[in-house]
Amino acid sequence: MPLIHVLNGPNLNLLGKRQPDIYGSETLADLEALCRAAAAPHDIRFLQSNWEGQIVDWIHEARDEAAAIVINPAALTHTSVAVLDALNAFDGPVIEVHISQVHRREAFRHHSYVSMRADGVIAGLGLQGYAAALRHVAALIG
Ligand code: DQA
Repeated sequence: MPLIHVLNGPNLNLLGKRQPDIYGSETLADLEALCRAAAAPHDIRFLQSNWEGQIVDWIHEARDEAAAIVINPAALTHTSVAVLDALNAFDGPVIEVHISQVHRREAFRHHSYVSMRADGVIAGLGLQGYAAALRHVAALIG
């Protein structure tokens, strides 16, 4: 059964503690459980890092390991050509997820480098955005 990578960028380790008015009260562990349930019967590799290079390395690993990537690049969304370039070297479906509705927030959050590669973008559905993305790619990869 093909593996799906779920990658989370900077500060998402603080989910549940950081700005709960924006990101909610559920933790990264809650999010992982939700993702595992939504992806079933597919297995996921669920990862989070505060380091841009680590996210790039995991995208490279996905080239050999994963049939699809669901990624919340967090702040790297708005800054990282390196993450975009790495995703451009991955052949399978890529879905970009944001917990918050970034287009209703500060102007600097309206631009996403990752959206230039993403096959789909979900923003503002809270953690359920990951579930929707995973159900979509699970159906795609069969
Ligand atoms: C985020 C939105 C980003 O603008 C922000 O930097 C994050 C989280 C979201 O999930 O809503 O860290 O990607």
